[in-house]
Amino acid sequence: MTRSESSAVEGTAPSGELSEVTVRNALRGVIDPELGADIVELGMVTAVAVAEDGAVDVEVALTVAGCPLRTQIKRDVETRVGALRGVRTVEVSTGVMDAEQRQAVMARARLLARDPAPATDIPHTARVIAVASGKGGVGKSSVTVNLAVAMARRGLTIGVLDADIWGFSVPRLLGMQGEVEARDKKMVPLKRRVGDGVLRVLSMGFLADEDSAIMWRGLILNRAVQQFLEDVHWGDLDYLLIDMPPGTGDIQMGLARMLPRTEVIVVTTPPVAAQKVAARTADMARKGYLRVAGVIENMSDFTCEHGTSYALFGSGGGARLAADVGVPLIGQIPLHPSVAAGGDAGTPVALDASQPLAEVFDRIADAVITTIAPVVAMDGCSVRLLEQVEAAVAAGTADDGPRQAVETGAP
Ligand SMILES: Nc1ncnc2c1ncn2[C@@H]1O[C@H](COP(=O)(O)OP(=O)(O)O)[C@@H](O)[C@H]1O
Ligand SMILES: [Mg+2]
Repeated sequence: MTRSESSAVEGTAPSGELSEVTVRNALRGVIDPELGADIVELGMVTAVAVAEDGAVDVEVALTVAGCPLRTQIKRDVETRVGALRGVRTVEVSTGVMDAEQRQAVMARARLLARDPAPATDIPHTARVIAVASGKGGVGKSSVTVNLAVAMARRGLTIGVLDADIWGFSVPRLLGMQGEVEARDKKMVPLKRRVGDGVLRVLSMGFLADEDSAIMWRGLILNRAVQQFLEDVHWGDLDYLLIDMPPGTGDIQMGLARMLPRTEVIVVTTPPVAAQKVAARTADMARKGYLRVAGVIENMSDFTCEHGTSYALFGSGGGARLAADVGVPLIGQIPLHPSVAAGGDAGTPVALDASQPLAEVFDRIADAVITTIAPVVAMDGCSVRLLEQVEAAVAAGTADDGPRQAVETGAP
């Protein structure tokens, strides 16, 4: 597929009639996490067929057989295409590229990576999730910390990066304070044990008191986040959750460049009118090559102790946005005083299993871990392939590289 063809696909709204074009557009949301580009751009989508009854067949050519990413890419294709209106079934078949196709993909990946991302200490196996929204006050930070807690309670190690440089709130929400220490000129995140798991947390709030934080205003925001990603000993992480500042500005763009594998969860509120702003975030994420992984609706129906539900802020917004973007609605978090109270006390409601809201966050954590962004083992995967190709190129034996890699990568 040529460049011009793929941009034509991008221009089509995903909410239109189901067609090969809308399917290909949705497939642009499937990123090969190691190559850092979407599978359409990389030329990995070899066939798309849409039947009238809503049965969709997608054929994906993988760089190497037996790669654990295969399952993930397959599942991502199913999720993305399955979320489109009018789709009844999704059938994904995978093939393996021949040496020539593989070289073309590698060349493409290298071209896309021309402006190389800076080195970070974030392990390749860690999945990076940015929690974003078009505007403030929708509950991004509350969702980030409670999701982090719910995931850590399952024994995972979760990094939490508070990228809301000026409006940081993560330290307060998690009841953590202290100063970040430096080791080998790198910052060490503050640690908090949660159940069998661990949170590693970094925020402007640990770097400066609020007065001196204001002095940072002169700095380019992007640089601050870059520092948070580059100059930090993140250590072993299963996930890195990033609490994004509101809007669609520099930080979002910077993140797309620095960590192209970042996936975005868009938080929105129930009124359908709020979706315009949120949709802009989703659109922006896609254009910046960040994959939008799903939508969380916050401040949904409030249920009083008598069991009556009140749609205080309207309803349907989360589902609407998810359908428009072509991603799953991961969950709906009711408007409940325990969320605000937990935040004020520095004890996120998700910590206390006896709280009804803890169960809501637990279900969302479950969805993220099992379907939205499962952890993958990367052994034998494209990252190694890419490294081998590069080593082979460096050694002047480029032609042997991919073939050797296939042999090692095969099951
Ligand atoms: N589900 C909820 N129920 C009740 N209050 C909530 C809920 N989600 C967030 N809040 C409250 O709304 C306010 C804004 O939330 P916050 O997480 O700071 O939003 P953002 O990070 O998007 O600006 C906070 O006071 C928070 O306690
Ligand atoms: Mg916030």
